[in-house]
Amino acid sequence: MVSDEMTTQETAKTRARYNRIAPVYDLMEIFSERRFVPWREKLWSLIPDGQVLEVGVGTGKNLPFHPSGSEVTGVDLSERMLAQAQQKAEKMDYAIELREMDTQQLDFADDSFDAAIATFVFCSVPAPVVGLSERARVVKPGGSIVLLEHVRIERPAILGKLMDWLDPLVVRMMGAHINRRTADTVQKAGLEVDWVEDLAARGLVKLIVARSPSRNGTGI
Ligand SMILES: C[S@@+](CC[C@H](N)C(=O)[O-])C[C@H]1O[C@@H](n2cnc3c(N)ncnc32)[C@H](O)[C@@H]1O
Repeated sequence: MVSDEMTTQETAKTRARYNRIAPVYDLMEIFSERRFVPWREKLWSLIPDGQVLEVGVGTGKNLPFHPSGSEVTGVDLSERMLAQAQQKAEKMDYAIELREMDTQQLDFADDSFDAAIATFVFCSVPAPVVGLSERARVVKPGGSIVLLEHVRIERPAILGKLMDWLDPLVVRMMGAHINRRTADTVQKAGLEVDWVEDLAARGLVKLIVARSPSRNGTGI
């Protein structure tokens, strides 16, 4: 659940920012996207057939990589990002369900999905522990939860400090934090981390491969 007033306000701001940049989002990412493609392919290669939830589907950049054995439900906070994704979805030769929804408060029953993914999303979720715990709730115990995220650089320390300093400015412009420690957050949310792989230099982008925990013992 969205826990407090500040989270609610931050979530509204995040929605407004992504609604604002939606029409130019793909253009803004045109050069970095070439780099992201192999990372997206790698992430999807880890997803088993079945019901898959993609949170923060954005403009639908992952749509071309969906495995043929999966039925993907994509959710996003921003209706304008979703509208871009819908245009891409109409060109695909398979169905994808797209829904406007906050990942901190998913409108799905427990154990609805076999797996969940997100790419470059938890940098902009105001309460990431809540958002990741929701993922654990809707994915069946033992189901894969795989994330591709840019995170805070830890070494050299000066780069991390620079990211901390620049973060408020980047949030205002882009709606995303550049100094999140998302692999740690995944653990804090009670997910079982299998492995974390550095994809970009200095660990700037990480593939985080985790599983939904068993319901007994974790309290989730
Ligand atoms: C940086 S974009 C990434 C989009 C896409 N996953 C990709 O790889 O291109 C982040 C997306 O997460 C969405 N988002 C941010 N906070 C969210 C939340 N609380 N619930 C659902 N979506 C959220 C934004 O609206 C935006 O579309």
